[in-house]
Amino acid sequence: MNHSASFQKNYAGNIIFFTCLFSLFYAILRYHIFGLVPWKDFPFLILNKSISLAAFILLTFNFSIGPLKNIGINVPEGWLNSRQVLGMTAFLLVLIHALISFMVFKPEIFAKFFEENGSLTFYSGLSMLGGIISFVVLWAYNLAFKTTMKEDQKFISFITSRSFLLIAMLFSLMHLFFMGFEGWLNPADWNGGMPPISLVAFSFFVVGYIINLFGRK
Ligand code: HEM
Repeated sequence: MNHSASFQKNYAGNIIFFTCLFSLFYAILRYHIFGLVPWKDFPFLILNKSISLAAFILLTFNFSIGPLKNIGINVPEGWLNSRQVLGMTAFLLVLIHALISFMVFKPEIFAKFFEENGSLTFYSGLSMLGGIISFVVLWAYNLAFKTTMKEDQKFISFITSRSFLLIAMLFSLMHLFFMGFEGWLNPADWNGGMPPISLVAFSFFVVGYIINLFGRK
């Protein structure tokens, strides 16, 4: 690292801005414009979907930029220098997503996640477990770089190791897959032909996972 450089190229602001813009427009188009969800549901329900999508995309960037370089792709300096800000922003967006989700997760709103008697279905139990474990892993990941734990070489090399990350990423897959796969199989039901947000996030996941599989040391 060049400590004397007074200016490091960093595209984080633009990457975050365009990712949020894309996620916002995607959710608005799919749910309000094509899905006819009333606009009164924007501030909590639909915004939560765009926040979770933006978080997911930013996280995928955060985890894949380094491995992409290791594969031999010429990743611009400005992307490499953006990693920490992207990770931190994604974590904060996930925190908003989790708080909103805890409030709206009810049978009246998410019928497909619940049985008639109000208990969770098997798949939604798996999905929520995946979400919560991913959240806790992300928390640990952030702690690792933000506290005195970063002095602990063993802890750092464990939490940034190939096997830990490849396994940890599977919990976010679990969150998306068990939430959405039944809807993924019915393109005829997609609002305006637009794939569900869980499937869009899953597509980012697949690309990111393959890059990590080959490029993560
Ligand atoms: C405490 C942890 C979490 C809880 C309780 C939770 C809860 C939920 C719920 C209830 C949904 C369905 C919302 C909807 O369809 O409107 C959802 C969707 C989603 N979550 Fe999470 N989640 C958690 C963590 C995460 C994490 C760590 C990520 C990764 C960034 C994530 C990404 C997503 C995505 C991309 C969707 C798809 C939205 C859609 O298809 O509409 N979640 N989550």
